[in-house]
Amino acid sequence: MRIQRHQALRPLSRDHHIALQLARGLQTNASPHLRAQLPGERRALVAHVQRVFALELAAHFDVEDRILAPAVAGKAPDLDRIRSEIESEHADLSALAAGLSDPALDDTAIDAALDRFGHMLEGHVRREEREYYQRVQEVLDEASMQQLGVALDRHLVFHGKSAA
Ligand SMILES: [Fe+2]
Ligand SMILES: [Fe+2]
Repeated sequence: MRIQRHQALRPLSRDHHIALQLARGLQTNASPHLRAQLPGERRALVAHVQRVFALELAAHFDVEDRILAPAVAGKAPDLDRIRSEIESEHADLSALAAGLSDPALDDTAIDAALDRFGHMLEGHVRREEREYYQRVQEVLDEASMQQLGVALDRHLVFHGKSAA
């Protein structure tokens, strides 16, 4: 079944497409097509991942934690559980991204960490699309979704990513 994403959440869903491309390209068994879009050299790849994290993913997580999460808190027990798990996944992903530049990592450990980050990021994004965002738009009424859309849009315009 194709999920129709509510207008309010579409800018964040668009970020997910970018995150998924990166996540899948980092996995050890990535298709050559996806891998070819990333730096080939291991340490250049780490620098790329950390740059994308700092410029795109951290801001996306921040919007989810500071605007989306408070807007949906206390609306339904299962949604509260998903929301808190999503927040701890953000912390895990941030720690993993930061740990990629640990000078103690040898080449094999870097490859394993990139693969792990790729799998975790893919799992996180897919879970948000299938479970979290889906549940948000089922639980919130239309007025609350509109309100959420305005709050998200205000923040996204500031970051140059308006829904318009
Ligand atoms: Fe997230
Ligand atoms: Fe997300």
